[in-house]
Amino acid sequence: MARITLRQLLDHAAEHGYAVPAFNISNMEMGLAILGAAREAHAPVILAASRGARSYAGDKLLARLIDGLVETFPEVPVCMHLDHGNNLATCATAIQHGFTSVMMDGSLKEDGTTPADYAYNMEITRRVTEMAHACGVSVEGELGVLGSLETGMGDQEDGHGATERLSEDQLLTDPAEAERFVKDTGVDALAIAMGTSHGAYKFTRKPDGAILAMNVIEEINRRLPNTHLVMHGSSSVPEDLQQVINSYGGDIRPTWGVPVEEIQRGIRSGVRKVNIDTDNRMAMSAGVRRVLVENTGEFDPRKYLKEGMGLMKDLCRARFEAFGTAGHADGIVPVALEAMAGRY
Ligand code: G3H
Ligand code: 13P
Ligand code: ZN
Repeated sequence: MARITLRQLLDHAAEHGYAVPAFNISNMEMGLAILGAAREAHAPVILAASRGARSYAGDKLLARLIDGLVETFPEVPVCMHLDHGNNLATCATAIQHGFTSVMMDGSLKEDGTTPADYAYNMEITRRVTEMAHACGVSVEGELGVLGSLETGMGDQEDGHGATERLSEDQLLTDPAEAERFVKDTGVDALAIAMGTSHGAYKFTRKPDGAILAMNVIEEINRRLPNTHLVMHGSSSVPEDLQQVINSYGGDIRPTWGVPVEEIQRGIRSGVRKVNIDTDNRMAMSAGVRRVLVENTGEFDPRKYLKEGMGLMKDLCRARFEAFGTAGHADGIVPVALEAMAGRY
């Protein structure tokens, strides 16, 4: 199966009422676990690489890793996506390395920490969209700044995200502005801010509407029924993984993520892409910890990584089932980038 664009994949998801998880990848083991789960679930998938992942693996090696994964799992439709691009050049070089989709996150300025205004965000996203679409590649934009409605703080857990205290206006995407943004930029998918944030510490209690504003998604979907919506920071931070990590020497403080049923509610209102990284990081480290603590003499990476991959695969499989992605791989016939270029 050739790679597919985000636009083709999310159009298919919208037509059939499901969403696609975008799982972050930075090494071979993560790729094997994600694609192994996709194969078993007969699901298409979005592999997302952040700027951090690109510099960790190196662009050349990452590109070859993706080639190898696509070849090894020919039955899985794969969209290769840049997560949180910060400028035109980052998006352009991702395309040169075979990405079929890029996120231009203009909600923050190029430094990745300073909230940007509408004019900046619109202009940089519009320019990236023009360039990417000419190459057949899809674009995700973001309006509103990710961060906590409990504390008013942006998230800095992954080294990017707003550092200053944010107002509720910044933390919640404005539906009227979203309508304008999609029209002004031509993006294929729009990431919404409504109280989710990256990392394990999203909420201090099980979230309700006061701190996880799903109503914002519903209102945006009412105004933009044909726009594919994206939920970032959508790990559920499963309690069982917290427990495994903590019982094998870890120290995860009590915390809540985004409940799967809230994501399912979003899927009923136009959410087509769901970003998950933290859950897989937790699954991988839970497995590794378990092996190393239970077998203190073990030092073969294949032994402990395999256990991490197993837990990660189970998690991905469960999300494919919960989001309705399972079973849809066969219905997708890849459209070449050259042909996509004429379709946007
Ligand atoms: O966007 C957030 C993802 O969790 C990627 O994190 O920048 O540490 O790779 P990262
Ligand atoms: P989590 O930290 O909730 O997994 O979010 C990942 C994400 O949004 C990547 O862009
Ligand atoms: Zn994100």
